[in-house]
Amino acid sequence: MADAIQTPHASQTKFSPRVFSGIQPSGGLTLGNYLGALKRFVAMQGQMETIYCLVDLHAITVWQEPERLRQQTREAAAGFIAAGIDPARSILFNQSQVSAHAELGWIFNCVARMGWMSRMTQWKDKAGKNAEAASLGLFAYPSLMAADILVYHATHVPVGEDQKQHVELTRDIAAKFNHDYKVDFFPLTEPVIEGAATRVMSLRDGTKKMSKSDPSDQSRINLTDDADTIASKFRKARTDAELLPDTPEGLKDRPEARNLVNIYAALADLTVEEVLADYAGRGFAVFKPALADLAVAKLAPISTEMQRLMADPAEIDRILGAGAEKADAIAQPILAKTLEITGMIRSRR
Ligand code: AMP
Ligand code: TRP
Repeated sequence: MADAIQTPHASQTKFSPRVFSGIQPSGGLTLGNYLGALKRFVAMQGQMETIYCLVDLHAITVWQEPERLRQQTREAAAGFIAAGIDPARSILFNQSQVSAHAELGWIFNCVARMGWMSRMTQWKDKAGKNAEAASLGLFAYPSLMAADILVYHATHVPVGEDQKQHVELTRDIAAKFNHDYKVDFFPLTEPVIEGAATRVMSLRDGTKKMSKSDPSDQSRINLTDDADTIASKFRKARTDAELLPDTPEGLKDRPEARNLVNIYAALADLTVEEVLADYAGRGFAVFKPALADLAVAKLAPISTEMQRLMADPAEIDRILGAGAEKADAIAQPILAKTLEITGMIRSRR
């Protein structure tokens, strides 16, 4: 399942396969981040070149307390490593240490159209009714995201369902750049959205996405939660009074039940059908404790390892710095070529 990686777009064969993805260090990592992104980042290691980024420049599109942002960036880095990202096999760094992202982001601000940005559902959700008070950066957010991806000529972007529209916009930006400047320079990147848990929902409300910004801590599992907290949150998760069905169709109008079954499947590396084969006809009095045990077995070691890594922040900063140097070496020539294509003089020695 999750490890079957599609071949690049037919016209893209001149670009060697390369994975890029990012997570905002704007709060702690959640089970949604883990199943929708991190776990799949780990699976892609070794299959092709992998570049993973803590997008701190994206985080400040909404207010971040500076010292907290720094802490959260280290904590997210610890989460990546604890979950299995190996800094020797993947490039791991924070975005602001590679200035090419922001520079290419500016070029893309001049390629993307206001209308494209206004149609982004994440913009509409986050700006809400008071768009006048939102930062300009929040509006331009997807253009910086396109730069993150394209400054490495990345061909594959593993993300959760909510980021699909942004990756499609990245393709639109690449296509318009290639068209306007009459080049075949940027690849048309594929989003990779696979597995049973590309959209993990809140434990309190099966119609809302599990999110680090939800005011209720009970709504989410944090990667820093200890074993007791994880178990208790699953035991208290909202459900319905029915028994589990024997086919996925039986979960159609049961968002909470469907969410818990999806989480179980993703954590156990099973399909939803396989989980239902084991639990059909059983109620939540049986299923919830089983899910709690599974989640503790899979997640508690990550939280323990994160704590160990967080005890040495200087080592985390060193890893991010070394990753940034490797990332910069790939990004600089691509940025330089982009500037040349757009007609900028490049005469500095
Ligand atoms: P963010 O935390 O918004 O920066 O998201 C980082 C990555 O995690 C993106 O690929 C998201 O699509 C993914 N993600 C975040 N929340 C969820 C969720 N509830 N379910 C699945 N994937 C998620
Ligand atoms: N927008 C993504 C999110 O909120 C984070 C992100 C920024 C990203 N740049 C990226 C994801 C590039 C994939 C590729 O989840």
